Amino acid sequence: MRYIGNKTKLVPFLLETIAELGLTRGVASDPFAGTASVGRALKTAGWRVHCGDLLAASYAYQVARVELDRTPRYSGALSGGSATRRTMSYGSVLRVLEALPPRPGFVTEHYTPAGEDGREHGRMYFTPENGAAIDSFRERVSEWGREGLIDRAGEQLLLATLIQAADRVANTTGVYASFVKTWQPNATRRIRLKPLRPTVPLAPSALGCSAFRGQAETLLRQAGSLDLLYLDPPYNERQYPGYYHIPELLAQGWDPPPELRGKTGLIPDDDLRSDWCRRGRCEAALRSILDLADARHVLLSYNDEGLLPRDSIEDAFRTSGDPDTFRVFTRGYRRYRSDSDGPGRRYRGDAVRERVYYVRKS
Ligand SMILES: C[S@@+](CC[C@H](N)C(=O)[O-])C[C@H]1O[C@@H](n2cnc3c(N)ncnc32)[C@H](O)[C@@H]1O
Repeated sequence: MRYIGNKTKLVPFLLETIAELGLTRGVASDPFAGTASVGRALKTAGWRVHCGDLLAASYAYQVARVELDRTPRYSGALSGGSATRRTMSYGSVLRVLEALPPRPGFVTEHYTPAGEDGREHGRMYFTPENGAAIDSFRERVSEWGREGLIDRAGEQLLLATLIQAADRVANTTGVYASFVKTWQPNATRRIRLKPLRPTVPLAPSALGCSAFRGQAETLLRQAGSLDLLYLDPPYNERQYPGYYHIPELLAQGWDPPPELRGKTGLIPDDDLRSDWCRRGRCEAALRSILDLADARHVLLSYNDEGLLPRDSIEDAFRTSGDPDTFRVFTRGYRRYRSDSDGPGRRYRGDAVRERVYYVRKS
């Protein structure tokens, strides 16, 4: 999924940094997991990873990509009709979902021009056909959950698959803060559920990975002693729920139906807003997480246009750990962009420098 701050392209740099520091695999935490790209890479490298994030959409990805060690089998009852098989594969479940007749519901009503509310606000996030398909998939997964036919991890894997599939046909330029007012080619394609591959642990040390939905601090209190804490918090004022409200809705479901706001149909998000996106609060957030963390090594990804100045980060790192071990690693890369430069933008151009800050705690 196209995600602000997604570190997929920076994974090699992070792994090189870990190798250069001589850190050997152990227990790691990635409490700002987003798409779980780093958690997945660490698991592949043999770390036992405890992921977390405020968003339900991230939780679905964490389960799909980090917590699960293999693709689960599902109950044969999901095939409907007279179930002759005791279990069925993930691929077969996706085929059952894709064969469902489209059933217009919440997504069609609010995020496509076929719904009264969608029409009133001119919302064109999905074509009516894809909206109705998304409605029928999501409703059926909820029904299976209510009837106890799928377990938590199996349900989250299906939700991550749906979020990913919906993202491919979303009529946006990458984030959901706005939609395009004419149909783009990707949006007119029929939605397809493509399987996601869980990360198989290649070493026993990577068994026992977990996913979490909630505040980073809460995860760290629960996680206990860590060998590595990897921090990748938001670095600017863009609150994630405003940019990814539709993936979040698909993850949370609509029972009871949320009250939507504004032109883009935002969902209630008071409990999902982050201090890291507030100029007056982000420094305290960094200091508090560093104080709280029971970790031998801490890495922080932060880019040079972030709210936190470099010297504040350096001071917080030197104060919380062994000051002599403090280091900064830098890599330039092309930024992820969802729109173009304009007079209102604070930065210009495509190049950005990502820094990784390191300290060893005592
Ligand atoms: C820069 S993104 C992480 C990107 C991720 N590393 C990836 O590769 O996809 C920051 C994430 O932090 C989450 N977040 C913000 N504040 C948080 C908090 N206080 N506790 C937990 N997660 C938080 C956001 O929901 C967002 O997914």
